[in-house]
Amino acid sequence: MSALYRLQNLDYSYEWNKQKVPVLKTLNISFDEACFCCIVGPSGSGKTTLLNLLGLLDAPTNGQIIFGGKDVGNLPESEKENIRLHQVGFVFQSFYLIPTLTILENTSYFLPSLGYSSVDAKKTALETLDLLGIANHANKKPLELSGGQRQRAAIARAIAKKPAVVLADEPTANLDSETSEKIIGAFKELQKSQRTSFIFSTHDSHLVKYAETIYHIKDGQISTGA
Ligand SMILES: Nc1ncnc2c1ncn2[C@@H]1O[C@H](COP(=O)(O)OP(=O)(O)O)[C@@H](O)[C@H]1O
Ligand SMILES: [Mg+2]
Repeated sequence: MSALYRLQNLDYSYEWNKQKVPVLKTLNISFDEACFCCIVGPSGSGKTTLLNLLGLLDAPTNGQIIFGGKDVGNLPESEKENIRLHQVGFVFQSFYLIPTLTILENTSYFLPSLGYSSVDAKKTALETLDLLGIANHANKKPLELSGGQRQRAAIARAIAKKPAVVLADEPTANLDSETSEKIIGAFKELQKSQRTSFIFSTHDSHLVKYAETIYHIKDGQISTGA
């Protein structure tokens, strides 16, 4: 299996009170193509930071992020945006759905930029909402939905465009265990049928149970285990 991502000597630190505070220290890890993996670790250990780096939403302080064989960590913003649009589906912990749009419009939002006609964009978005069990709420706006329904809408937006990789920050945090199992089933199906890669941060034991590789972050270091 070839690597989807390779992180080489990756450091991430931020400045606080003129001091450099390290979050991730000299990471050397890979994520395989079509992987299904979880990042676990205590609160504040750097899970969101790592996902933001993989999603090219943030840049490493040092080191490289090799994606598709290319160092993408420090590309110009327009090139990063292009990679994100075509290849990455991101599920943010706080969703970032557009409040003035319905969840159907949120879900279809990126599809016209990827060449979908408006009819196909709507059809694909509806099918995705149906897969996640919320098609009956398609015409509601995010604030008219429960937390769990909003979470599913955020997942729908990320997977509707069939990205190469889905990066999801605690994607089942607001779901009951039955819904969580259903969503994981939908992810697994996509992994099999489209070879989509899934990288999650999570505390959810349901989700961890399905992971092929578990990445443990602690004290800025990462280790893997099954
Ligand atoms: N730009 C930044 N400014 C201040 N603190 C930051 C910044 N980036 C990350 N951090 C800190 O880095 C640590 C890791 O954060 P995060 O990745 O959100 O952890 P997790 O998702 O595992 O809870 C936290 O202590 C957070 O406050
Ligand atoms: Mg986090």
